[in-house]
Amino acid sequence: MTDKDSTDKPWGGRFSESTDAFVEAFTASVGFDHRLYACDIQGSIAHARMLARVGVLDEAECQRIVEGLEAIRGEIERGEFEWSVGLEDVHMNIEARLTQRIGDAGKKLHTGRSRNDQVATDLRLYLREQIDACRAELRRLQQGLVDLAEREADTIMPGFTHLQVAMPVTFGHHLLAWFEMLERDRARLADCRRRVNVMPLGAAALAGTTYPIDRAYTAELLGFDAPSENSLDAVSDRDFVIEFTAAAALIMTHLSRMSEELILWTSAQFGFIDLPDRFCTGSSIMPQKKNPDVPELVRGKTGRVNGHLIGLLTLMKGQPLAYNKDNQEDKEPLFDTLDTLLGSLRVFADMIPAIEPNRERMREAARAGFSTATDLADYLVRKGVPFRDAHEIVGKAVRHGIDTGRDLAELPLEDLQRFSSVIGADVFEVLTLEGSVAARNHLGGTAPEQVRAAARRARERLARD
Ligand code: ARG
Repeated sequence: MTDKDSTDKPWGGRFSESTDAFVEAFTASVGFDHRLYACDIQGSIAHARMLARVGVLDEAECQRIVEGLEAIRGEIERGEFEWSVGLEDVHMNIEARLTQRIGDAGKKLHTGRSRNDQVATDLRLYLREQIDACRAELRRLQQGLVDLAEREADTIMPGFTHLQVAMPVTFGHHLLAWFEMLERDRARLADCRRRVNVMPLGAAALAGTTYPIDRAYTAELLGFDAPSENSLDAVSDRDFVIEFTAAAALIMTHLSRMSEELILWTSAQFGFIDLPDRFCTGSSIMPQKKNPDVPELVRGKTGRVNGHLIGLLTLMKGQPLAYNKDNQEDKEPLFDTLDTLLGSLRVFADMIPAIEPNRERMREAARAGFSTATDLADYLVRKGVPFRDAHEIVGKAVRHGIDTGRDLAELPLEDLQRFSSVIGADVFEVLTLEGSVAARNHLGGTAPEQVRAAARRARERLARD
């Protein structure tokens, strides 16, 4: 047994032998939590300023601490900082270096706080910033969708149910459906941010501290909306990580659904769009191939974010109050979720404006699938036929079209009249694709006029927040 290293840890006082080498590596988090360094320093500076304000530190000590921490930030940013696994995590690495640089004043920084409230604060500061970055990328992607939707407001494509041609829609309308999914996501992130932006500092290890701290002041310095209400909850709560990951999983799910459509549309069978070469890759064996790797990869990456959500929920479900070391396991899933989400949003925001629609192919596909059958039924209803009878009549006409290899618009008037005597020459106006989409001219409908109005409103929503 050796006790010669027992005091080389900031918490070494009560220990009589040094940490097992493997246990040291196993319990350390610095390998991943060093990402929090800027937030850790920001939090420490605010904490020191608050301690000086309430008289726990004197002005000179506070000044030395602030300058020391800023210098350390410089060292880290220049890649000069030496991270030590022996010092466990980002917090103790920075604190130890501070004391090394400025001496005794550095040892006073940790007065009235604990790593438990420190890490919860760091994580909230970090996530707050990252949520803003995610919302900015979402906005950029949505902007691209609105621009494209406006340009393609008149472009006709088949709308699908069960992946079978259902009714003609405009491509712009389809793109604005994607916009709506992402608009809900952006709102969800803003809502999540409100619960992230609460300050745990002052909770200390779990019960608060005996020093006359001014939590409102620290919260104000750090831009938090308020200090947390309960110290036990403050150090143990990771709802905000789960909530963010849930929102991220939903965004990825939306990107994955969009990906699936992009993949279908670029296939030879659909041929609705082309993606520029810079977003695709080839095959090492089949020279003719151009693969939609970007959407495929985004669709695939959705799985890991869903996995992180379940991992985090499971991480928390058995924990008693207050802090437990389990909580250290929140970081890697959160960071990977952020990297995955930000990367996916970025590549989508770059790729969407580069979509090259093949308007002829889309039109052709809409024409081929009896997509105006419902328009014919509605026409009969307007001429006094009950809807259920109209449905039956059109069904028979479609059957005839299938048997003779023609679309409804290609059947001669006499053929159509065999199914219902109320059909007149004006029927061809509703059987055209343009007539069909233009007729759905109400709020939320697919008519080009509505798509242009919806795009205008979408722009206003983006500008609002
Ligand atoms: N690295 C730790 C974490 O990420 C910091 C808090 C450690 N607190 C403790 N009491 N061991 O959760």
